[in-house]
Parts: sequence; C-alpha cells; structure tokens
Amino acid sequence: MYIQDIQLKDFRNYKELQVSFSKNINIFLGNNAQGKTNLLEGIYLTAMAKSFKTMRDREMIRFGESFCKVKTDCIIGGETHTTEILITKEGKKGIKINGVKVQKITELLERIYIIIFSPEDLKIVKDEPEKRRRFVDQELCLIKPGYFHALNNYKRALKQRNTYLKEDLIENSVLDIWDMELAKYGSRVVSERNAFIGKIDKISGEIHHKISGGRENLSVKYEPSTTVSHNMEESFYHLLKEKRNDDIRSRTTGMGPHKDDIKISAGEIDLRKFGSQGQQRTAALSLKLSEIKLIEEEMGEKPILLLDDVLSELDHERQSFLIHSLGGNQLFITTADLSGKVARELPEGKIFKISEGQIEIEI
Ligand SMILES: Nc1ncnc2c1ncn2[C@@H]1O[C@H](COP(=O)(O)OP(=O)(O)OP(=O)(O)O)[C@@H](O)[C@H]1O
Ligand SMILES: [Mg+2]
Repeated sequence: MYIQDIQLKDFRNYKELQVSFSKNINIFLGNNAQGKTNLLEGIYLTAMAKSFKTMRDREMIRFGESFCKVKTDCIIGGETHTTEILITKEGKKGIKINGVKVQKITELLERIYIIIFSPEDLKIVKDEPEKRRRFVDQELCLIKPGYFHALNNYKRALKQRNTYLKEDLIENSVLDIWDMELAKYGSRVVSERNAFIGKIDKISGEIHHKISGGRENLSVKYEPSTTVSHNMEESFYHLLKEKRNDDIRSRTTGMGPHKDDIKISAGEIDLRKFGSQGQQRTAALSLKLSEIKLIEEEMGEKPILLLDDVLSELDHERQSFLIHSLGGNQLFITTADLSGKVARELPEGKIFKISEGQIEIEI
C-alpha cells in the first residue's frame, strides 16, 4: 500500500501542487512555517477524511478561498484507488473514491491505513494516563470496527450517569439502567484493551531488546480500574453496585475504563516514575513501532507512516534504527534538517525541499 501522487488545490498554504512520491522514503526538508506539516495533513486527509490537527474542516481551506481539494492515487494490491476530498467554506465535505461519491468515512477507512507519529508520541510514557488510553483507543478503533461503537456507547452512558449523579434526588432504579449500559459496553472495551496490550507487550519487548542493544527488558502491562475476568460484564456490574454509595457521595463515576492505565517498565523499574528521559523516549519509540507492527499483522497490510518532526527528537542511533526498521512501509518524514550521516545511510527514496508552499525535488 502506498500513495503514488497527490494534488492539492487551495489547501492550507498551497495554492496548487502536484507531486509524485517514492513508494519507500519521502523526506520533506524545509525551514519553519513552509508547509511541511500541511502536506502531511493533506495526505492524512485523503486516507482518513479528517485532519489530525483540527476538528474544523474549513480551517484547511487556503485563507481567502472558498474551497479546497485534495486528490491522491493510492496503490493497494497493484490497483490504483483515487480518492478525492472537497471541502467548502459552508462546511460541506464531498468524498469520492474512483470517481464515485461515498457517504461514509468508513468506506475510505477500509482502504488506506495511515499512522501519524509526532513528538507527542515520544512523551507517552511520562504523560498522564489519558494519553496512554488514547493511544490504545486510537489503534483499536482502526483495527476493530466494533470497538469504536462500544467505546462511544460507554462514553455516552458514562456522561449521562455522571450528569444524573449531580442531581439532588438519586433513584437506584435509574442508576441500575446506567450501570447495565456501562457494564455492557465497558466490558467490551476492557476485554479488547486487555488483548491489545498483551500483544503490544510481546512485540514491543522484542523491538526494545534490539533498540537497547539487549540491555533492557521492556514490559507493558494493562492496569484496569475494574477487573479482567471471564464474566466481565457481570463482575463490572457488581463492582458498580458495590461502589454506588461512593459514587453518589462524590457525584461521579469513580471506576471503569475511563480510569484505566498502562504500566511501562524496564526490568523492575516503573519508567513513568523512575525512568530517565532517554529511557522514556526509547520505550515510547518501541511502543510506537510495535503499534505499527501490530497493525500490519492484524490488517495484512503495511500502513503508510507520517513522521512529523520526530527525527530531531532522537539521537543518531535511534534515527537510524527508526528509518531502517520501517523498511517496506511508505514513509513521509518532515524535518528542518537532515544530518549528513543519516542522509548517506538512507535507503531508496526521494528528498523534497519545501519553501513557501512550493516543492522541489532534491534527489
Ligand atoms: N488555511 C491556511 N491558509 C493559508 N496558510 C495557512 C493556512 N493554515 C496554515 N497556514 C500557514 O501555513 C504555514 C506552514 O505551516 P506548516 O505547519 O506546514 O509549517 P511547517 O513547514 O511544518 O513548519 P515547522 O517546521 O515549524 O513545523 C504557516 O505559516 C501557516 O500560517
Ligand atoms: Mg511542522
């Protein structure tokens, strides 16, 4: 799976652009504010039908214009799929695949797998639990369509239960209804997270062993706020009942997948609390690479990867590891500068220079 070319019209700071990519590595070099991240956003948009930067589609339209258009040719299993997205100032979004209008974003999602890797991802080990939950949720939504549904229903029920808990008069019969909903969808979320983290633990352990030159054993363990059991729906429901008085007192739901965490350790050391910055980053890199590997395994396709400003955050050894371990995936890498050492070691690909919304090929 790779993107052969892209056309942009009035997209961000690009008036008009047409460019053909390498199916291996594509490096976008350029100073700050020239359009490197914007180009990645354009690529992401045709795969996911949304931006990774904004919820408001119209922000992607070039200042002063009334619409923007992004078109890509993506090669999947030897066949060309043309996807086209048009966004208007009025908030309309038109999506076409091979010239045919489609309504649902999932019709696109089933076709192209794309992962964005940004400096934020390198903080996942030391960040708050919410960021680790988001990491897991994003991947599960991509590889398990039913997960998205379960997670959304869980969040909706949780919000309604919490709103109800703030009322003056609480009736047990009403809470029963929300508890059943939470247990039904929450148990699905917990069981999928449990399986996913188990797989990530195994793969990231192997990757981390290589990056750390065999010095560290990484372990990634699920820390659910509820319990993981065979009859999860029932046990979750009972736990909610047990804690009901606490929830009524605190006027919020104190337990459930919205409180889960992941513990990341090197040997006996909890890296979030005691890891050095370098250790935390390397573990984060291992996690991200294992996520990519897992998607490959589950989907039978090598996802396309967008690396926005990640290289400058890593030392030469890790930059080199990152680029070489991703051979076979199409890579789009933005960076303000590329060290001669890394450039010389690059496998086959293209280097582009981006300046004020214009692109030139360097190699
Ligand atoms: N809708 C828009 N219309 C026109 N220009 C825009 C629009 N949105 C953003 N820009 C401009 O595009 C420019 C390039 O942004 P971009 O984020 O792609 O830079 P970059 O090359 O990735 O820089 P950095 O190295 O700092 O990350 C910015 O100066 C920004 O103001
Ligand atoms: Mg940028």
